[in-house]
Amino acid sequence: MPLELPTLTVTELMAQISSTGQDPLRGGYTRPVYSPAELDLRAWFIEQAERRGVSVEQDGNGALWAWWDLPSGDRTDAVVTGSHLDSVPGGGPFDGPLGVASALVAFDLLRERPLNRTRAFAIVVFPEEEGSRFGVACLGSRLLTGAIDPTKALNLRDPDGNTFADVAGKNGLDVRRIGPDPQLLSQIGAFVELHVEQGLGLSELDHPVAVGGSILGHGRWKLSMRGQGNHAGTTLMRDRRDPMVAAARSISAVQQIARAQDNARATVGRLQPVPGGTNVIASRVDFWLDVRHPDDAVTAVLVQQIHEAAQRIAAEEGCGFEFSQESLSPTVTFDAKLSATLGSALNNVPVLDTGAGHDAGVLAGHVPSAMVFVRNPSGISHSPEEYVEDADAELGAQALADALAALLV
Ligand code: GLV
Ligand code: MN
Ligand code: MN
Repeated sequence: MPLELPTLTVTELMAQISSTGQDPLRGGYTRPVYSPAELDLRAWFIEQAERRGVSVEQDGNGALWAWWDLPSGDRTDAVVTGSHLDSVPGGGPFDGPLGVASALVAFDLLRERPLNRTRAFAIVVFPEEEGSRFGVACLGSRLLTGAIDPTKALNLRDPDGNTFADVAGKNGLDVRRIGPDPQLLSQIGAFVELHVEQGLGLSELDHPVAVGGSILGHGRWKLSMRGQGNHAGTTLMRDRRDPMVAAARSISAVQQIARAQDNARATVGRLQPVPGGTNVIASRVDFWLDVRHPDDAVTAVLVQQIHEAAQRIAAEEGCGFEFSQESLSPTVTFDAKLSATLGSALNNVPVLDTGAGHDAGVLAGHVPSAMVFVRNPSGISHSPEEYVEDADAELGAQALADALAALLV
């Protein structure tokens, strides 16, 4: 295929997808994996890669790989960059897509340079990074690396009750192929993910770009309170076993427990009453807990404290209680040698730790991985207010190209 160099900017590429998956209720974007919006973004990525003369392969877990092969076709020790196109509900435009758009622009910049490359190059798009549809964050990279049992993954359900097996199958995946792919994994010699910064670190340092230092350990747990569904008008307050009250008290306990521990973050961002009616005492309330701390042992203690508090509250409210872990990711420090290479290629930009999870964190346990962060002057993410200045987006892509150039030779 003839090579066409589109020479678009990151801002222009981001503008091409700015109407895809807009959330009319929250604002921002809702692009769950395998939703029409996320599928449109995948099609956009494939088209962009093909316009650059690069063909896209889908791996057994639904990740897209655009390979810029060596003339020999040897993919050993490849340099890979990329991110994700799915979003949280009502998320910002940059979390994920900025890394993909920057990877495409970095690729264009690399091809304009006289580069005697010795390594194959690929741009990857991982599915379900946010875990906002099936509950487990970084599902694509977890499956690739074997960090999640494929049977467990296939049985995950979305909020409508569809299993991951059903949804993946309907989207063309062979469910028998879902799971670890040691051969593909072994081809990755280095993985570099560019991402919007999700705090104010770079604004405070007055710098547009940083190299990633570490990712805070984090996990997700599901809690269920079971009570007696009943009538809001005829049931006296003293006769109630109301799981909503048990959930509310537990959420308050989560805040108290996390506030008492330095550097802890604990969040309940999702709660689902069953059946959910204004004049109905719920029969069950499910809610999901996200806990993060730099020390994995402290995370375990925090989760144990929350578990015990919620169990006690359930008993006091006359409710049944269930507690289960959905995922756990230890604290990750990025590869020192790779990060140092990036640091010197980028003139020793700052090193920044992050509290957010990323596919690079999952891959870090298996292949040398690193990250590049781009300044977000709002400091806000997982929200429509997430923001990147156009000029910083272009600087980010140039920095990514510089970093990749240093690795490719
Ligand atoms: C993903 O962005 C996460 O940190 O949950
Ligand atoms: Mn995110
Ligand atoms: Mn992300």
